[in-house]
Amino acid sequence: MKKYLLKLDEIDTIVEYITQNFTNGVIILRGDLAAGKTTFVKRMVKYLGIEDEVTSPTFSLQQCYGDKIFHYDMYNHGLEHFISLGMLEELERDGLHFVEWGNDELVKILNSADIKTMTIDIEKISDDKREYKICIY
Ligand SMILES: Nc1ncnc2c1ncn2[C@@H]1O[C@H](COP(=O)(O)OP(=O)(O)OP(=O)(O)O)[C@@H](O)[C@H]1O
Ligand SMILES: [Mg+2]
Repeated sequence: MKKYLLKLDEIDTIVEYITQNFTNGVIILRGDLAAGKTTFVKRMVKYLGIEDEVTSPTFSLQQCYGDKIFHYDMYNHGLEHFISLGMLEELERDGLHFVEWGNDELVKILNSADIKTMTIDIEKISDDKREYKICIY
């Protein structure tokens, strides 16, 4: 597990790591409301030079930025619903898939499907700092 304590303008430290080491697979973002999950996806998309607007996919199940970045939010769906809508096949597509609120059960399923998976747990340490705990499975 890797740990980082980062301000808003330091998030690219992890973004760079990901663009160099993890170009395909699923990245699960976890953390309380307002921890910084969507902000992380925003930085990633910006870093890659994609100009699409990033928002939490609360009502749409999936959002795409460019043709290789996908964004999901499981908060309102739950794992079974998510799977019944065919999202596992989507997660197998070439590219990076960011899933806000993905749980341990999803990690297990992705593992058994041999899909590369990373979890990023974000915690608010102070108003201007977040702790990021990163695991690769
Ligand atoms: N590393 C950071 N350091 C300081 N502030 C940050 C950091 N990351 C995000 N923030 C700030 O935290 C706030 C909430 O961020 P964001 O909307 O990304 O949270 P979220 O986890 O997606 O929340 P929700 O669960 O409500 O969708 C924003 O004001 C953002 O600027
Ligand atoms: Mg969000």
